[in-house]
Amino acid sequence: MPIVWDSKLDTGIEVIDSQHRRIVGYINDLEVAKTKGDKALVTDVIEQLIDYTQSHFGFEEAMLEDAGYKFLKPHQKVHELFIKRVTSFTMRAAKGEDIAEELHSMLAKWLLNHIANEDRDYAKLILEEGGNEPQTNQLAPLGQTRPSGIAGLLKRFFR
Ligand SMILES: [Fe+2]
Repeated sequence: MPIVWDSKLDTGIEVIDSQHRRIVGYINDLEVAKTKGDKALVTDVIEQLIDYTQSHFGFEEAMLEDAGYKFLKPHQKVHELFIKRVTSFTMRAAKGEDIAEELHSMLAKWLLNHIANEDRDYAKLILEEGGNEPQTNQLAPLGQTRPSGIAGLLKRFFR
């Protein structure tokens, strides 16, 4: 059964919600590939999901750092453990094991729980900071070329 987006998963931060929706889209794609028994497609979707999720985590962590979120470190740790967990699945897959079913159920449970709990925890702080405002690089100190704000973060973490 594909995951249907539930408003309980919304953080209210548009840029984060659209990234979360895309991750859920990959989880659903994985289910389709698994049901078809298309191994090449399963591998392809897993690669895309890992790549996108890592960019998303990087984006989220940088946003939380900019906002001075006090639970950034434990949040980063949770992301790190997740990546380790997924990597152990890909290592098993590389040895020829069929992990699609188990990985799909872990992803669905873990990500939905993480979004609904840990991610929603930082939403209030970010929204107070104006997380939905498209910010530009105003008043950047001389010599600082890194763009700031949401637009800058997007450029740093996504191709
Ligand atoms: Fe997160």
